Amino acid sequence: MFKFKYSLAVAAAVSALLAGGAAHAADVKPTKGKSLGEEGYVWHAGGGEEDAALTLKPDLNNGREVYEVCSACHQPEGWGLTDGTFPQLAGQHAKVTIKQLADIRALNRDNPTMYPFALPSQIGGPQAIADVAAYMAKLPMNPEPGVGDGKDLAHGKKLYEENCTRCHGVDGAGDNDKFYPRIQGQHYNYLVRQYQWIKEGKRRNANPDMMKQIQAFTDRDTKAVLDYTSRLKPPANLTAPKGWKNPDFQ
Ligand code: HEC
Ligand code: HEC
Repeated sequence: MFKFKYSLAVAAAVSALLAGGAAHAADVKPTKGKSLGEEGYVWHAGGGEEDAALTLKPDLNNGREVYEVCSACHQPEGWGLTDGTFPQLAGQHAKVTIKQLADIRALNRDNPTMYPFALPSQIGGPQAIADVAAYMAKLPMNPEPGVGDGKDLAHGKKLYEENCTRCHGVDGAGDNDKFYPRIQGQHYNYLVRQYQWIKEGKRRNANPDMMKQIQAFTDRDTKAVLDYTSRLKPPANLTAPKGWKNPDFQ
């Protein structure tokens, strides 16, 4: 059985983060990646670690070992926190995770909280990325994600169907081969944060077609469409029973 031990550094970072609420969002500093509209902006740069990780055969045992450090924030089940501080990663497409991790490590996407724990010196190179992505993709998803207030779901459904299905699918399942994330059953507050950052260009690795699609959304539209999205159900074979615990970390 795999021994579960939090590293002290991670535990300290987590308590600081939880004590400070969402303060980390304000600390994001401009880094190396280019913003939309700047010369040299690319949504999908590829190359480097991403291309390397995409061609490697994943080793799930190593993925489980790498995931230990991640579990301090994303939780042993990969379900994150209902308040959206940490996203659910369970069930996410492996290619999506590979792109996001490689982008975070290459500073194409700002994540100052997680950055020091996701570096090659901490977890290893492209093989570690491929391994942990495959491990997380197989974790069953949270049956009770954080959702919105449920007051405007008919409006949310209409907006979702008109603006999101083209890429994320009718049920929010996304598309592994196209690097479109699975957004069904993701915590509402996390969806709202990422959506706003994508809309404003703050998430610098965002897809420009999605940015264009959502520019006219009002606050009401945003809340409604994301409340609807957080309630989209992943398929039964990807959903954990209530109260499930990850046996790898017991
Ligand atoms: C100290 C806390 C912390 C640790 C440790 C951590 N993360 Fe994160 N992670 C976060 C936070 C916070 C976010 C959301 C950042 C944001 O809002 O953009 C995040 C986001 C992510 C995302 C983006 C998800 C998405 O939906 O786009 C991925 C992928 C990810 N983490 C993977 C990992 C992996 C793999 C590890 C372990 C190697 C790890 N994280 C370790 C805090 C952490
Ligand atoms: C043209 C295709 C496209 C359309 C249309 C689109 N998206 Fe996206 N979306 C993407 C891609 C690609 C990403 C990942 C971007 C990246 O690599 O960082 C993404 C990311 C997201 C994220 C962040 C997910 C995460 O795990 O961090 C959210 C939330 C989201 N989309 C919601 C929506 C909603 C809601 C709509 C409709 C109102 C929508 N998207 C329309 C392609 C699209």
